[in-house]
Amino acid sequence: MVDFSRMPHAVGYFSPARFGAEVLDCEVTGAIPAELDGAFYRMHVDWLYPPKFDDEASLSADGYVSLFRFKRGIVDYRGRYVRTDRFARQVAARRQLYGYYRNPYTDDPEVRNIGAPGERTTANTTPVILGGKLYATKEDGLPYQLDPNTLETLRQEDFGGRWQSQTFTAHPKLDPRTGELVAFGYEASGLAARDVFLCTFDRTGAIESSMRFEVPYTTMLHDIAITERHVVIPGSSLVTSLERLREGKIHWGWDRTRESYYAIVPRGGDARAIRWFRGPERSIVHTANAWSEGNKVYLDLPMADGNTWPFFPDIHGGAFAMHANTIRRLTFDLDSGDDRCREQVLFDREVTSFTRIDDRFLTRPHRYVYVQFADRSRPFRGSLPEDPRAQPNNSLARFDLRTGSMSSFFAGDAHILQEPCFIPRSPGSPEGDGYLLATVHNLAAMRAELAVVDAVSMTELARVILPFRNPSQVHGTWATERDLPLA
Ligand SMILES: [Fe+2]
Repeated sequence: MVDFSRMPHAVGYFSPARFGAEVLDCEVTGAIPAELDGAFYRMHVDWLYPPKFDDEASLSADGYVSLFRFKRGIVDYRGRYVRTDRFARQVAARRQLYGYYRNPYTDDPEVRNIGAPGERTTANTTPVILGGKLYATKEDGLPYQLDPNTLETLRQEDFGGRWQSQTFTAHPKLDPRTGELVAFGYEASGLAARDVFLCTFDRTGAIESSMRFEVPYTTMLHDIAITERHVVIPGSSLVTSLERLREGKIHWGWDRTRESYYAIVPRGGDARAIRWFRGPERSIVHTANAWSEGNKVYLDLPMADGNTWPFFPDIHGGAFAMHANTIRRLTFDLDSGDDRCREQVLFDREVTSFTRIDDRFLTRPHRYVYVQFADRSRPFRGSLPEDPRAQPNNSLARFDLRTGSMSSFFAGDAHILQEPCFIPRSPGSPEGDGYLLATVHNLAAMRAELAVVDAVSMTELARVILPFRNPSQVHGTWATERDLPLA
């Protein structure tokens, strides 16, 4: 029997959605710009069955994929679960079979397979385009290929046996200049392993080069950044071990005695040429962008001084206190004998970790960073189940690194914004000249909405309205007919 009453935060808008849907010719206020022709894919987290443990991470929820298809000012919506092997086994059993996030020791005996942790993936994190195909990805397993129009789950991808890792990142990075995709898997040879498999795909999706190396200690390597010459891999203060997993604990714990570390890897080069840098205790989830200038490498990213994961406990028993992300710049001097990196706060405004840029400027210096944040000067008509006094992420920020200024878009007084996605007005338009797409939870109307925002004036152009709730989004990706065979 399905019963979510043990999950105190799974109420109201935040209760699991648990259905697929199709809406043709969605209701729209305002006017959709005619040049928006493409598909906005999003991955969400949605429990079909309640988790086995009350303190489980939302990261374990089933993957749900949705699509807003824009064409000639009309928008169609489709959404459905990713039919992973795990999902199919659970539907057959009619219950939750899997235990803690990335800990197969806590699974039911009939699905417990310690040697193949990648079988547990829920493929819930990022829609990734590779070699003209669409994939649902999550860093604890291999990706699932999806039909780009029906969103049907086709198969789990092993790249013809050439992918030498049990895992595949949810944040591969596309080089807009060469069309190459840099991807990696960590805990590559198994649970808690220190090895990383780093790989470059060419624009056709064929593997061009790869390398394998070990990190100083196993930590969550959720995101990377690339420059024209380097790959930057940041590691933070989350830790794991086989002992911890055998004790039945959730995969990650926070160790405040651990420094952050950073690998500066020559692209297409040799693992022996990796330069390692270190910094203080930090929480690092996503990057914004990186670039190389001479023998310096720069990385802009949201970063916090301590733990930002409520469900990954302090291994020394300390109480959880949320640390805020601010946008910072790290400088790595490859000529220096010093292995410390330089850290500079670019903007001290508290933001989420979901920074995005105009992706045409990945690998090169960029001017703008976009991210959603909680604007506490704005009204909020509602309450959040995990903290009734909290202000939700009601606004989108555009940070201008050239002028040091910020402009913002407010989504509404009962609204929570999800990660934005930038789309250029035309392929040749200047950086930042285009649109921001971001979906919104409307808590008052109990429905999902998609805001289309002018990225220059930060004003709303249109809003697409769904007549139902969407589960919480993780990441989104824009695709055109040049990227995927769109109907
Ligand atoms: Fe992510």
